[in-house]
Order: sequence, then C-alpha cells, then structure tokens
Amino acid sequence: MKVGRNDPCWCGCGKKYKKCHEAFDEKIESLRAQGHIVPARKLIKLPDQIEKIKESAKINREVLDILEDKVCVGMSTEEIDRIVYEETTRMGGIPAPLNYNGYPKSVCTSINEEVCHGIPSKDVILKDGDIVNIDCSTILDGYFSDASRMFLIGNVSEEKRKLVRVTKECVERGYAQVKPWGFLGDVGAAVHDHAFANGYTVVKEIGGHGVGLEFHEDPWVGYNTKPGTKMVLAPGLMFTIEPMVNMGEAKIYIDEENEWTAITDDGLPSAQWEIQVLVTETGAEIICS
Ligand code: MF3
Ligand code: CO
Repeated sequence: MKVGRNDPCWCGCGKKYKKCHEAFDEKIESLRAQGHIVPARKLIKLPDQIEKIKESAKINREVLDILEDKVCVGMSTEEIDRIVYEETTRMGGIPAPLNYNGYPKSVCTSINEEVCHGIPSKDVILKDGDIVNIDCSTILDGYFSDASRMFLIGNVSEEKRKLVRVTKECVERGYAQVKPWGFLGDVGAAVHDHAFANGYTVVKEIGGHGVGLEFHEDPWVGYNTKPGTKMVLAPGLMFTIEPMVNMGEAKIYIDEENEWTAITDDGLPSAQWEIQVLVTETGAEIICS
C-alpha cells in the first residue's frame, strides 16, 4: 500500500513517512530492481517488537545459564527437559518446541552423532565424553527467542573439543558478516569457509531461520552460500545462525522411529551453536545466545 509522504509512517512511530521509513523503502525497491532478494515488510522488526523479543530472550538465556550449572554425567535428557519446562514456565514463558508440529518435549538434546532435534528421554543418560547440544526456545507474550549451546560432559576428547570450539567460531565468523545492507550469503559463506578450513563439513538440509514474531519465519539461513547472494540484510531483520558442523561427511538421515532426530550418516560427531541476531542501522546485535 502506498503511503503519502506526509502521512504517518507505517512503522507506527508517529513521525511522517518522509521523515522515517521513506528512504528505507526506496533503498529496498532499488535493490529489488537490481535483482536482489529483499525482505518483506513483515520481517522488519519494529522497536517495540524488539523490546518484547528481548524479554523473551532474557528467559531463554537464563534457562541455558541454569543448565550450565546442572548438566552433568549420569543425568538423563528427560531431566534436562524437566528443568527447561519448569524454569521457563516459572519465569512466565512457554517452551516453544512443546507441541510444535507435534514435537513431544520442551527442548532438543542432541548427543554426539545426533545433529539436531534429539528428543529427551528417561532412557538417554549423559555419559563421560559426550558432547550435547541443548536447543532452547521460548515464547513470551507471543514473542519468540531461540538459542542453543554445546555442553561438554566429563572428560571430552581433544578431537571433539576442537569440533565444538571451531563450530562456535563458525557462528562468530558468520555474525561478523551481519551488517546493514549486506547479504545473508555473506554469513553462510563465512560459516562454511571456517568449517571447511578445519576439515569439517556443514549440514546442508537444515539451517537457521527468521524468528521473533513466529518460531520459524523467512529467511531460511543456509551455509552453502556465496557472498553477495541471498536476502539483503535490511535493518530490523532478525534471524538465527545455527550451523551443524560435522567431523566427517555432511550427509545426514532422520531417525525412522521418532521422525525428528537428524543423525550423521557416517556416525561421526556433529556440533551446533545457535544465536539469534538483529540487523541494526549501524551493525548487528545478539538478541539471544
Ligand atoms: N530450536 C530449533 C531451531 O533452532 C527448532 C526445534 S523445532 C522442534 O530451529 F520442534 F524440534 F523443537
Ligand atoms: Co533455531
């Protein structure tokens, strides 16, 4: 819909359109005309939405922090699930995974060769030397946050520690590419190049996603990308960077029994870290990690 230059801006700030988002819209249109993929307006988070999402993220971070003190050898992943449910709801949030497309638990716990979407169970006990991804997502007043961390259980081999460290570095390299009017392809390329330089592979089928007003929004964030391609990083765009980095081959399969858990085809370990980021006018901001 066209707005007059003296009409109130569509963002609801109360200013005139010409004093607010007119230049932004012109830039988007010119990039679109050049053939670039530009974000729909609904993907651009407004200041009051960002504040609400940050409140959600505060809970999500706190839950992950609590887990840092509790996760240990001998604990079942069901126990992790219980902690996530109790702590999230205690702080007024809802675990976003619970009942999401039929997902049965409040969190994903993915151990060693499990790439992502490991389902907590009383029968899965953390053992010495395991590496575990715990992926927490929170809904607060309808606003979504999403982040995951790796947890080292007991004495972990140097080989696995390196995988975990390099995967974190991949996310940091990706984040360093989040700049206003850059490209999502710059992020993916930085992630992939660092993994590859260390002899690892990155899972192709599963990636990050827009997040904030919904659990999974556009854009999809893959890592098999070239700089200068994919969606334009317009200020206000919010998404996750969450590469799954494999020690061996990139190939994965989905567990036939639970139809959720992705597992490396060669059985070698996989690691993942996830951060939720916002593109700002001047750079970028980590909303949840
Ligand atoms: N938290 C996961 C992500 O990062 C999504 C999990 S969906 C679930 O996108 F249903 F498996 F929880
Ligand atoms: Co995510």
